[in-house]
Amino acid sequence: MNRIQSGWMTLLLAGACLIAMNVHSQEEANYDESKVPSFTLPDPLFCQDGTKVDNAGIWTNKRRPEIYALFASQVYGKTPDKKVELTFEVFDEGEALGGKAIRRQVAFYPKAEPHQPRMELLIYIPKAASGPVPAFVMPNFQGNHTINADPGIHISSNWMTEFRKDDKNKDTDPESTRGKASSRWSVDRILDAGFALATIWYYDIDPDYDDGFQNGIHPLFYDAGQNEPRPDQWGSIGAWAWGLSRALDYLESDQDIDGSRVAVMGHSRLGKTALWAGASDERFAMVISNDSGCGGAALSRRRFGETVNRINHAFPHWFCDNFNRYNNNEDALPVDQHMLIALCAPRPVYVASAQDDRWADPRGEFLSAKYASPVYRLLTGQGLNASEMPDVNQPVQGRVSYHIRTGKHDVTDYDWEQYINVASRFLK
Ligand code: GCU
Repeated sequence: MNRIQSGWMTLLLAGACLIAMNVHSQEEANYDESKVPSFTLPDPLFCQDGTKVDNAGIWTNKRRPEIYALFASQVYGKTPDKKVELTFEVFDEGEALGGKAIRRQVAFYPKAEPHQPRMELLIYIPKAASGPVPAFVMPNFQGNHTINADPGIHISSNWMTEFRKDDKNKDTDPESTRGKASSRWSVDRILDAGFALATIWYYDIDPDYDDGFQNGIHPLFYDAGQNEPRPDQWGSIGAWAWGLSRALDYLESDQDIDGSRVAVMGHSRLGKTALWAGASDERFAMVISNDSGCGGAALSRRRFGETVNRINHAFPHWFCDNFNRYNNNEDALPVDQHMLIALCAPRPVYVASAQDDRWADPRGEFLSAKYASPVYRLLTGQGLNASEMPDVNQPVQGRVSYHIRTGKHDVTDYDWEQYINVASRFLK
């Protein structure tokens, strides 16, 4: 076996172990509400020095920066200050989806290094629009070309190299995967409601496996002599969130889109990413978390379903190294995930769960929305309009929204209907 073969072997084995570990952990996790330990959540409305946050000024100038800094250094890792100049290149433009939309595809890549990493943004704009429209931006799991069967969607060259490393994809013809994930993308519904949709494949920003941060965007930010992020620097979620902000940079410059009315939305690990992107970049006008679970909307201290220890072992590249301090030690966290939701205030935020998605702890997701609400009330007079968890398919909508729908871990047309409903209220 040469070095390349043995490298592939290691990757395949690592992948197989990860899947096995995850299935194993899902079975062994606690799903018994009576075994959720009692805990005290940090209060978002008290500063670390004990100052009470009783007006918007203290929140904005003191407590918010403090909470943000804690999430950055202890959970997701800091995004380096260094600015990397990017080139944005529109490489495709025209009518699509039977005349219903304008499709625009934009590549962006570092000015200094024109080839890698190359990120591609796919945008559909309602053709019927008479002026700049609001938009949803949402990263995707399997490639831009999987969100719709549209034959004009460019297949990322990273798909051929990076994605095929995974054993189950290695013989796959990318053409056969066009539209494979379309059930998660209610493109017609979004366009009919007058919104544009923009998406980016997260692998284009940073491939989702643990390679010591040698691929993707991390190396662009290393200081001289540095070859991996420091313990308080970003992991992959931080990188994906950075990519969403760069997508927003482009959207702000697009004459057909109103960059001040862009909602960021994500599912599962990309729901964690959407929340972190929304917390990090206040230009996002609305933040939507779909089934984001542990390290997303779910409270870590509940230890229900996936836990900090399990996520850090199964996905060591998602968070910063410092987050490992809280493995089986959640009570030591200086934050909990309700404070991540609070970082989105005063912008509308939507947390959604699925009934069968116990791994993501629906109740923990609901409680985060609930316990973020005092911050929303302070800033806007409005929080989540429910103190108890609502029944399935009974959305509670407002500036802080929550629903739990029937079904499994997924994004469905039902979810989109709710997001569009609230976005229409706030972004139109
Ligand atoms: C795993 C992981 C979750 C994550 C999910 C996903 O189940 O444990 O934290 O949200 O993958 O992204 O699909």
